[in-house]
Amino acid sequence: MIETAVVETTVPTMPRLGAPAPTFEAATTHGTLRLEDFRGSWVILFSHPADFTPVCTTEFLAFAQIAPELKKRNVELLGLSIDSTYSHIAWVRNIEEKFGVKITFPIIADLDRKVATLYGMIMPGESQTETSRCVFVIDDKGILRAMIYYPLTTGRNMDEILRLIDALQTTDKYGVATPANWRPGDKVIVPPPKTTADAEERLKAGYECKDWYFCMKSL
Ligand code: BEZ
Repeated sequence: MIETAVVETTVPTMPRLGAPAPTFEAATTHGTLRLEDFRGSWVILFSHPADFTPVCTTEFLAFAQIAPELKKRNVELLGLSIDSTYSHIAWVRNIEEKFGVKITFPIIADLDRKVATLYGMIMPGESQTETSRCVFVIDDKGILRAMIYYPLTTGRNMDEILRLIDALQTTDKYGVATPANWRPGDKVIVPPPKTTADAEERLKAGYECKDWYFCMKSL
């Protein structure tokens, strides 16, 4: 009899922009939480490799620092790593003791990697066990709007995370796009025309146009 080897090929799931963010129920430092519990608020779901590590500690301090700015924008923070709730509790207590900063947002204890797998947070080329530094921006209707993936060794930039939130919320409010390096107060981009008539019309609309496809305006 010829024996055939079965090679298991598991394709990791990757969440998709513009689609509903994968739902979950998870143990956190604030008790059991479901993604649906955040409906009506925007959520920044972010993973870190491990508790009690220096880069992650700087990131938690930085997330805690921007938390009030995020609150003003109706954004909640939700951390995640594959450490236990006990480890998370001990770490946030240590951060408060050593740095005088209170971590007020919940942290998922993803021991079985259920959420990490759903969101593709583990990059086997970097680590088979730890989650990379991922950021998922989920809007108030539960739609995944942006993803940022950083490697284990690079701490994230909070200015960019705030800028991203501002850009997405500006897009939603005004139906515009935002250019490279955009900051609130800068000119925005009028979406490109879809018809020749629109192209003609927008040249007369009072926008600042370099050409029919490139028009900006102030808000
Ligand atoms: C850190 O947070 O310091 C860290 C974690 C994993 C790999 C490298 C650095």
